[in-house]
Amino acid sequence: MAAAPDRYDSPVVDLRSVSAESLAPLLEEEIAAWRDELDWDLRASVDLVRRFVHMQALSGFALRHGREVFGYSYYVCEDSKGLVGDVYVKRQYRTVEAENALLQAALDAMWRTPGIRRVEAQLMMITSPLRRPVPHPAVFRSFPRCFMEAPLAGTARLPVKRLPGIDIHRWHPSRQEESARLIAAAYRGHVDSLINDQYRSVTGARRFLMNIVQYPGCGTFYAPASYAAADAASGELRGVSLASLVSPDVGHITQICAAASERGRGLGYELMRHSLLALAAHGRRKVSLTVTASNESAIRLYRGMGFANIRDFAAYVWDPAPPAQ
Ligand SMILES: CC(C)(COP(=O)(O)OP(=O)(O)OC[C@H]1O[C@@H](n2cnc3c(N)ncnc32)[C@H](O)[C@@H]1OP(=O)(O)O)[C@@H](O)C(=O)NCCC(=O)NCCS
Repeated sequence: MAAAPDRYDSPVVDLRSVSAESLAPLLEEEIAAWRDELDWDLRASVDLVRRFVHMQALSGFALRHGREVFGYSYYVCEDSKGLVGDVYVKRQYRTVEAENALLQAALDAMWRTPGIRRVEAQLMMITSPLRRPVPHPAVFRSFPRCFMEAPLAGTARLPVKRLPGIDIHRWHPSRQEESARLIAAAYRGHVDSLINDQYRSVTGARRFLMNIVQYPGCGTFYAPASYAAADAASGELRGVSLASLVSPDVGHITQICAAASERGRGLGYELMRHSLLALAAHGRRKVSLTVTASNESAIRLYRGMGFANIRDFAAYVWDPAPPAQ
């Protein structure tokens, strides 16, 4: 195993000075890591990275050892928020110091961007996400999260929960606006709204939905396993369960929520059961999701339905003026 290069002979360089070709072996390793460790096909996301690097249009940094690029980070800024899209260092060279050099460079660049007041990151492949030094600790908070998985083989045995007055049917994009309102209400005061500020407003929830329906970051949106629960009399939306495919035979629940007035009567369970049944019926073998570790009732629901935690990770937030809890 090659020794990790000393940070003094591996200065962080602008990602725009790196060619897509020289980044390719690093990206291939990352694709393999996501496939082997999380059963997640990262190719669509990596193709976007490759395309933007080729156009010199992606903001970020790289670590080079001679001609070899062994680490990179990138970020995007949207209104007043910065998002660290990725930090990945080749396994052979991986150290907290190398990862932090990439993270620090991205954070510093974002803080220099006019209007940026907050930065978020959920980095699945970094070392010891829950116990590591992180740049800018004075304005930093970390939220433990879990990546959970369930096999779909036994899904047909999950008992039906009868819900008088509720209709469950396939989610349709015509429900997008109503879903944004439901999500903003469902996450009011919720820990996940501290992690992702899109949960704090209808405008933010609209953007969140657009991202999961149109872009590959959370897998490819999968309409056949996405469901809406509505009041049978008024037709008003009461809950949603949205699914994606993260590889040809693995589904992912990108969003599940129920209106606060409906909680605790089995609506979340039934929505999830519908999504899992649909994934199984379409030949998928497994499903995954991510959940914040302090969201105990959601985790109880998921465990009861066969999910197990396969990885602890963290949501990072840098915010000099976080909202009151
Ligand atoms: C998580 C959420 C969708 C659950 O919806 P819900 O309709 O309240 O859930 P259910 O009524 O189906 O289940 C509620 C309870 O029954 C339990 N339960 C239901 N079915 C179960 C089963 N088959 N086995 C074991 N437990 C079960 C759940 O663990 C939960 O326990 P609690 O009473 O201690 O909270 C809902 O609370 C919500 O919208 N929360 C805010 C948004 C959120 O946190 N989303 C998840 C993000 S990952």
